[in-house]
Amino acid sequence: MKKSIVNIFRISVITCIIFVLSNLPLCAAFKVVDNINSPNKNIVINFLISDKGEMAYNVIYKNITIIDISTLGFLFKDMPPIAENLKVIGKEKAHFNNNWEMPIGERQNIKNNYNKMTIFLMEENEPGRKINVVFRAYNDGIGFRYSIPKQSNLTEVHILEENTTFKLTGDHEVWWIPADWDSYEHLYNHTKFSEIDALQYKDNPTQLAASYIPENAVETPVTMKINNNLYLSFHEAALVDYSSMTLKINKDNLSMKSFLVGTDRRDYKVNKTVPFNTPWRSIQISETPGGLVESNLILNLNEPQKIKDVSWIMPMKYVGIWWMMHIGLSTWDYAGTQDMETFLSTTPTPTGKHGATTENAKKYIDFASANNIKGVLVEGWNVGWEYWRNEKDREHSFDFVTPYPDYDLEEVVRYAKSRGVEIIMHHETSSSVENYEKHQDEAYGLMKSLDLHSVKSGYVGPIIPRGEYHHGQYMVNHYVNTAKKAANYKIAMDVHEPIKPTGLRRTYPNLMSAEGARGQEFNSGGSLGGGNPPDHITTLVYTRLLAGPMDFTPGIFDIKLTSRKSNPNNGRVPTTLAGQLSLYVVLYSPVQMAADLVENYEGHPAFQFIRDVPVNWEETKVLNGEIGKYITIARKDRNSDNWFIGSKTNEEPRNFTIKLDFLDPIKRYTATIYEDTDNSDWQDNPTDYNIRKVRNLTRRSQLNLHLAPGGGAAISIMKQ
Ligand code: NOJ
Ligand code: CA
Repeated sequence: MKKSIVNIFRISVITCIIFVLSNLPLCAAFKVVDNINSPNKNIVINFLISDKGEMAYNVIYKNITIIDISTLGFLFKDMPPIAENLKVIGKEKAHFNNNWEMPIGERQNIKNNYNKMTIFLMEENEPGRKINVVFRAYNDGIGFRYSIPKQSNLTEVHILEENTTFKLTGDHEVWWIPADWDSYEHLYNHTKFSEIDALQYKDNPTQLAASYIPENAVETPVTMKINNNLYLSFHEAALVDYSSMTLKINKDNLSMKSFLVGTDRRDYKVNKTVPFNTPWRSIQISETPGGLVESNLILNLNEPQKIKDVSWIMPMKYVGIWWMMHIGLSTWDYAGTQDMETFLSTTPTPTGKHGATTENAKKYIDFASANNIKGVLVEGWNVGWEYWRNEKDREHSFDFVTPYPDYDLEEVVRYAKSRGVEIIMHHETSSSVENYEKHQDEAYGLMKSLDLHSVKSGYVGPIIPRGEYHHGQYMVNHYVNTAKKAANYKIAMDVHEPIKPTGLRRTYPNLMSAEGARGQEFNSGGSLGGGNPPDHITTLVYTRLLAGPMDFTPGIFDIKLTSRKSNPNNGRVPTTLAGQLSLYVVLYSPVQMAADLVENYEGHPAFQFIRDVPVNWEETKVLNGEIGKYITIARKDRNSDNWFIGSKTNEEPRNFTIKLDFLDPIKRYTATIYEDTDNSDWQDNPTDYNIRKVRNLTRRSQLNLHLAPGGGAAISIMKQ
């Protein structure tokens, strides 16, 4: 402990010199007030105060400073900032160590072991406001948040900005996407910190979602490599009734500062009534990239489960009337593009291309029921798709209860139930949020009357009310309130164009999954263009997926999109077939789609892996990995003794030897390996694959894997 305090003073001097060199007027001397360690003592968080009464923290890992002295504070409307003149009026420390169970998740039992430190502060001068900062140190990282306590001279605040800083100790390697206030559907950039230019991001804004990038700021989770032995990922936890935090880049002093998502409708970013807590600001810390993936920090920083009965929440695989629209074989709409008035005032003439017909739904139900798939998603079932993108009609496109004439909703649900299949409802809101809120009770009531418990929702386009953004306080509240309301109707959510996950699935397990990144839809060769390059998956796992599950919708077997009528952009799925299978293990989601047309699965030997793979896990272990390059994950089924492995590489071929030392010591297993061949290649030969069985495996066994360029491997290890 002594040693680290000495270290801090050395650092504080350096900080001071940098301030002077960069012509900042202030050169404050900071002193440590108190600190806490992680339970294993590797991490130390110091809380510091300067001679001007500024508050700050720093973080030390095994005696090396990893976050230098970083100041804290707030900017308010009509009120002086909370920045200096603060004095410590109290301190409190505690230790917590308990376990909790996740009803649905990548593991069942979670250890929640941390040390906590609360610092109570007050301004020495007028207005004499009080503010507390709460820190938690876990073995896998840290969290801290502000807590503004009840006080007589402060009842409401309008926050212009939260001045939380993260001062780095080097020009680290960073994997980032721009802080787009409306969308996370961007390709990851991999640059040095000093080279981040969020306004020159790799991909163009998606055509589906809106796009607004006001500053050189990055989205969280943002992941960094400090050196070969240390990795950090910055994010937030328990984002409730607040704006999402993005991080503004200061290249000159290698620091980041919170940059909250704003709104054009108000001249402040967040409105809070005192007392309140902010979301947790989190830093996952690991000596391996895989340690970031195994971390439970974000979940542990959230409140315990509030929905007691979760028996109606169904983790499941699903197929659906979906990819056929994305590859242009059929349409969401029934009558072809026209405006709302025409559609509603005349008898619509069907184009014959409508995907969501009763007949088509039954075909998908039959396939699901015969292939160990629980769910069928039907998009385009409800009136409104003719005009949902028209600026004029977008506001009121959907009522979420009126089916098209060729879709008999009751009959489809009856048929599905008779075959043990669940229909997943679809609510595309066209981002017309007030309209959705107006119809929610009726829409969820309809689902309740049909005994349906899952909905995929979507928020395509700029938010209405205009001037709000997808990630601001207004929408954060909408997404959380929607989840709570849905829970009252026993409905679980899979949200597309969502707010990024921040671990709220612990509190509300019906927040099952979400999109919130570039998913498979970008590989369809359609209007989204582009396609996700082979390093997309191997980056997603160490960035966006650290926040929570993702509904990526894997499993396209027709990699070259031969089913498309025309393929003008030369669209294709940038993996091999075995690479697609690996995603069922690599990308955790409790709802996992088999996204291709069922015709492409019928009679295909490799489909057996999708039949077998579960979606709810007892344990998860990362066996190897490098950010952006590769990952191998083993997961144990929650309901059997079986294990499943997914291994995925970027454009580089790789060979791995995998130790099976996680298997049960007294059991024997048979592995079925779905793998690339020596000739497979995502560009030239993506559908070449091999299936091989290895029997009598024990925990002393090893498996050799070959992954082709853009390829992967998927393995089921079944108890004999
Ligand atoms: C975007 C979603 O990500 C996609 O899955 C959906 O099909 C379309 N919106 C239409 O709602
Ligand atoms: Ca999307």
